[in-house]
Amino acid sequence: MKFSLSHSTNQYPDLMIVPVAKKDDSDPFFSAISSISKIPSGLIKKDFSGDAKEVHTLYYTSAGENKRIHLLGLGENPGTKDIIDIFRSFAYKRKSHLSDKIGLHFLFNNAPSDPCPWIEAAVNGILLGFYDIGLYKTEKKEKPTAAPTARINIFVAKEHAAAAKAAMKKGQAMAETQLQIFDLVNAPSNKKTPQTLADWALRSGKKYGYKVKVLGKKEIESLGLHALLAVNQGSENPPSFIIMEYKPARKAVKKIGLVGKGVTFDTGGLSIKPSTNMHYMKTDMGGAAAVMGTMEMAAKMKLPVHLFGVVPATENSVDSKSVKPGDVIGSYAGKTIEVIDTDAEGRLILADGLAYVAKHFNPDVLIDLATLTGSCIRTLGTYAGGLFSNNDELSQQLLKASQQTGERLWLLPIWDDYKKEIKSDIADVKNFSGNPSAGAITAAKFLEIFIQDHPAWAHMDIAGVAVSDSEFSSQKSATAFGVRLLIEYLENIVNTA
Ligand code: BES
Ligand code: ZN
Ligand code: ZN
Repeated sequence: MKFSLSHSTNQYPDLMIVPVAKKDDSDPFFSAISSISKIPSGLIKKDFSGDAKEVHTLYYTSAGENKRIHLLGLGENPGTKDIIDIFRSFAYKRKSHLSDKIGLHFLFNNAPSDPCPWIEAAVNGILLGFYDIGLYKTEKKEKPTAAPTARINIFVAKEHAAAAKAAMKKGQAMAETQLQIFDLVNAPSNKKTPQTLADWALRSGKKYGYKVKVLGKKEIESLGLHALLAVNQGSENPPSFIIMEYKPARKAVKKIGLVGKGVTFDTGGLSIKPSTNMHYMKTDMGGAAAVMGTMEMAAKMKLPVHLFGVVPATENSVDSKSVKPGDVIGSYAGKTIEVIDTDAEGRLILADGLAYVAKHFNPDVLIDLATLTGSCIRTLGTYAGGLFSNNDELSQQLLKASQQTGERLWLLPIWDDYKKEIKSDIADVKNFSGNPSAGAITAAKFLEIFIQDHPAWAHMDIAGVAVSDSEFSSQKSATAFGVRLLIEYLENIVNTA
């Protein structure tokens, strides 16, 4: 699929897509459409009101040629996430019709005075709509999808040319990374081991020019990542500890450390999970995927930030060798942990990841992302990730980026009162309070013990948002949650530096 820009209104392609938000002063827009299509604006208005996802098609003839306009409703005051989702579902439903030359129209008052955020979102959404979740199907598709051949010409005023081009490129670059993240997160565990995550990072680092070092089991042992090793104990597949570093050519405004939970399958271990929905635990590396996608995007965009990304990766499996409830294990930070519940494994591997990043890289900001707790889903549902931080400035910056991207976060407290819940009688700390209340918060309090007193740390519990319902499948599937959010956050700190 090719995107290009056009400023001329002399000739429109046979198929035009015109996104339209619902608003009060829509008369000029309808008269503009009416003057192209020669259909009275009153008639169009009767059938099309601009509700989100509403599509109304106008057929008309111009200079002897048959033409179509798809009016695409965006609803009232659409945010970028709304626009992405609307275009994604539009492209998904009509992919076999979206061929050849298509115009995407931002010239009338259908778009805001700066249409660039809309352009980025539209391009991003269209490309995501071509996602094919059937990675392992053997039967060839009957109808080839039109994606490779379609050429989409974006009509935008000349004054926006440079910014629109950048927006178009960013929407496209983002989609390319997101589509890969979708594949990675949606992959089943027999096709996705810790080594698969490592290989992905190595390939991406090579392609986009950032460093990737993968530590295998031997090195993990000699380094003393004991908590990661304990979780891996019951698994046939060895762990990986993936260390990524993107250093910009320009002077970096900040040094940021990212850590992502990379559990390629979470059976719960001996504290085994119920079988209903256990298959979703192949996506328990959504935090790792967000970190990897962010590294790739930052490198692609050549952002002037020095980024470290670390992914402790392992399965959490059931075996005679598995760590048992009650076992006391060590950790990279040197603290001992009583494992009350082997299903609270994410915090164990993150403990080692966080301590490692804090010790070795001394970043200005330390952020981790993890599909960490069912408790967070019970608190916020699938509508927001939980945000926890010991630094108000950082949490405000992340909340701002969250609002801008529509990847919702909600701030939850980390008062010290919760810390006593994870006090162990026999070790420095225990990994579960044994009490079902405030589970997302006590998990965050556990992580806090391992950040080496870092003054600007944030934790995102993305258990409820790393996968969601979508047009792609009957099951929930990957969202790549966190990539757009973190890139927006990084761009914001660059712009205010
Ligand atoms: N990976 C799960 C959390 C999760 C649950 C993610 C549902 C996505 C959907 C995590 O490792 C886990 O099992 N957490 C337990 C912790 C408990 C045993 C303290 C939980 O939340 O139930
Ligand atoms: Zn678990
Ligand atoms: Zn887990």
